[in-house]
Amino acid sequence: MKKLIIANWKMNPPTLKKAKELFSATTNYRLQAKNAEIVIVPPFIYLSELLKIKNSPKQSTLATGQIKLKIGAQNIFWATEGAYTGEISPKMLKDLYVDYAIIGHSERRKYAAETDEMINKKVIAALKESLKVILCVGEPLEIRKKGKKAAMDFVKNQLQKDLKGLKGKLLSNKLIIAYEPIWAIGTGISATPETALETIKYIKKLLITNYQLLTPRVLYGGSVDSKNIKGFLQHNEIDGALVGGASLNAKEFKKIVELTNKIN
Ligand code: 13P
Repeated sequence: MKKLIIANWKMNPPTLKKAKELFSATTNYRLQAKNAEIVIVPPFIYLSELLKIKNSPKQSTLATGQIKLKIGAQNIFWATEGAYTGEISPKMLKDLYVDYAIIGHSERRKYAAETDEMINKKVIAALKESLKVILCVGEPLEIRKKGKKAAMDFVKNQLQKDLKGLKGKLLSNKLIIAYEPIWAIGTGISATPETALETIKYIKKLLITNYQLLTPRVLYGGSVDSKNIKGFLQHNEIDGALVGGASLNAKEFKKIVELTNKIN
């Protein structure tokens, strides 16, 4: 299966002009290798304009090579329409041809007080509209300090709540889990490939036994860059990376994609 490289721009860059420049610089080159699928996830407000660029015949994007390029959203709301000031529905995103939605990112859990119950409703709503879900889970530092078992129990508990009522066909091909330990996000201190691998293997086992997924896809996220990407992705079980800071530098992101392509 292709490795999935997702660029989560978070609340960057600060202007539309800069967003267009970053998008073009990130996507405007041909790559012939076949081992990666790319998803760019900009702030909502830039989605329409960037989709126009992506779909313009002039744009010689990654999509015109053999690499698939898709667009995602950083969040969604669970209702389809109505009196929900400030929210964006999965239907609105589908209407724009957005393919993916990140749900339950730790920054939304922290700054927007999103609970597992809210995240569960969002996952259900996204799947109903056939959006692919990138569900983020991962433990804080105080839990990791207690040891491997505590970290795994934490993640298991998040999955139990976030995926409540869902299994099998409802999820297959549509659910991607991003294991993002909170202590590794934006800190420059990534998890070791070994820690990421053992947690990801555990998550996959849960997805197979408790959620009847045949081929679960699980990514690693947290201070990924061109220097450490190979260490993670050389393991078959790690299906890709969710990249934050490094995706804001087009050259760096391109390196990450190129290195991914070289992994068999
Ligand atoms: P960084 O790559 O900046 O650590 O961010 C990771 C992340 O949160 C991606 O969603």
